[in-house]
Amino acid sequence: MAYSNKVIDHYENPRNVGSFDKNDDSIGTGMVGAPACGDVMKLQIKVNESGIIEDAKFKTYGCGSAIASSSLITEWVKGKSLDEAMSIKNSEIAEELELPPVKVHCSILAEDAIKAAVSDYKKKKGN
Ligand code: FES
Ligand code: FES
Repeated sequence: MAYSNKVIDHYENPRNVGSFDKNDDSIGTGMVGAPACGDVMKLQIKVNESGIIEDAKFKTYGCGSAIASSSLITEWVKGKSLDEAMSIKNSEIAEELELPPVKVHCSILAEDAIKAAVSDYKKKKGN
């Protein structure tokens, strides 16, 4: 299957690969797996005192579309509020990356991972 140029760009030059200390209380960590293929995505956000995501990192063990989806979403969430990050839809990722239907679940992984990261952060803050 042919990947779009945008997928290849993110795959070859992934943005924001890495990780933060998950015990730091300014960090939210989301780890999700895709039952369809066994791929795993870890996505972390660093939130400042105003509730704005100032940095994000990911590690993805998976296909090119999963890596591109996580790379793209780490770029998108920077500078956003938690609510704004929660409202990102996998369909927006799939559209931006021109994912074919069989690869749409890769973008769902990114949406789920960011939601899990926000929930983890909120839980740490006690809400
Ligand atoms: Fe091949 Fe996900 S199915 S890496
Ligand atoms: Fe399963 Fe991409 S995450 S094929």
